[in-house]
Amino acid sequence: MTSDTLTSDTQTASVQPAGPICDESREERILPVLADWRAQVAGAVHPTPRHAGAERADQIPREYALLSAEELDRRIATARAALGDRVVILGHHYQRDEIIRWADARGDSFKLAQFAAARPEADYIVFCGVHFMAESADILSQPNQRVILPNPAAGCSMADMANIAEVEECWDALDALYRDEGNSDRQAVIPVTYMNSAADLKAFCGRNGGIVCTSSNAASVLRWAFARGRRVLFFPDEHLGRNTALALGIPPEEIVVWDQRRDFGGIEDDATLLGARVILWKGWCSTHQRFTVEQIERARREYPGVKIVVHPECRHDVVAAADYNGSTEVIIKVIEEAPAGSVWGVGTEINLVKRLAREHPDKTIFCLDPVVCPCSTMYRVHPAYLAWVLEELVAGRVVNQVSVDDETARWAHIALDRMLANKG
Ligand code: 13P
Repeated sequence: MTSDTLTSDTQTASVQPAGPICDESREERILPVLADWRAQVAGAVHPTPRHAGAERADQIPREYALLSAEELDRRIATARAALGDRVVILGHHYQRDEIIRWADARGDSFKLAQFAAARPEADYIVFCGVHFMAESADILSQPNQRVILPNPAAGCSMADMANIAEVEECWDALDALYRDEGNSDRQAVIPVTYMNSAADLKAFCGRNGGIVCTSSNAASVLRWAFARGRRVLFFPDEHLGRNTALALGIPPEEIVVWDQRRDFGGIEDDATLLGARVILWKGWCSTHQRFTVEQIERARREYPGVKIVVHPECRHDVVAAADYNGSTEVIIKVIEEAPAGSVWGVGTEINLVKRLAREHPDKTIFCLDPVVCPCSTMYRVHPAYLAWVLEELVAGRVVNQVSVDDETARWAHIALDRMLANKG
């Protein structure tokens, strides 16, 4: 593989970053397995250390690490053609262009979940996204279909901020507190998990009268929950939960944060929880935490008339300072529908911002954060992995399948079906 193949091109956004490039954008950090091989090929003494998500990482045959971008494209195209309708490739909007060009369908988390449920004719669903999305596709697809995540190390650090043991601990504490509240026709707490969570958390919601939401239907899901319960426990994204609750008119004093790293969530007195309507898990998306009100103010100074659109995983002050907020699909739609000549500052992942800038040359579109940073986990789906999994399918072998056990899938399916019925 040439060094060009492994070099990030995040500097090519329509507006050049003023500061240094974010470390996360360095391909050798994101593809340590490939980088190790490159180092070996070059005779390096110290291999690159493995990344934190390495427990799910898989080794791909060495030959793929040595292929040029052109050769990878050629082999992906050949394998894709040989598989025909037996395979469907889904691509999340955050995927790099070298991947998204192969997607039969692109979308946000909600749309991709719908696609996964609606393509029963394909034997294989190759999900170019992250682990929780592939798990959901496995749950929503037919039993005979197999879901493949090209690089199993493509996870989500926010999803990893909530695990079943911590959620059950919180749930038990809340149950003990609310048990004596007296009879009511509504449940004391409804658990709501963001799509960015492991399948066992979705199953927890299914078992406990709860639901899954995505950033495109979170408001509708919270309304659904409040029709059935007096409170909502929302995990793992504190910010999406707060932004949605405030947009629905829930006062800030009725929104509390449960810090899973501290005893009793770091909450000092029972009254706080008794008066709460929304209990937020303390989780966040590192990419979206980079966006600030100062960046928005600077964009407004430098581009009079600029419109700002951000993802609701951003902090509330950022969402409040923006003109629009919404899921990746909403961000695309708002910009697509804007008039030629309009100027857009965007607060979301850089691969999507760069693509929007390229696809709309009649508009000025730039990332609010000058230190542009891709979602490092999404970025782990490299064309080498896609070529490998497709060629294995042509050879009759399934590698990197994502499979959820039946019991977890059964309950998670219930929570996902409730989500799909709430279109937002
Ligand atoms: P969307 O559902 O808006 O595509 O968001 C997915 C995601 O993981 C954002 O960080």
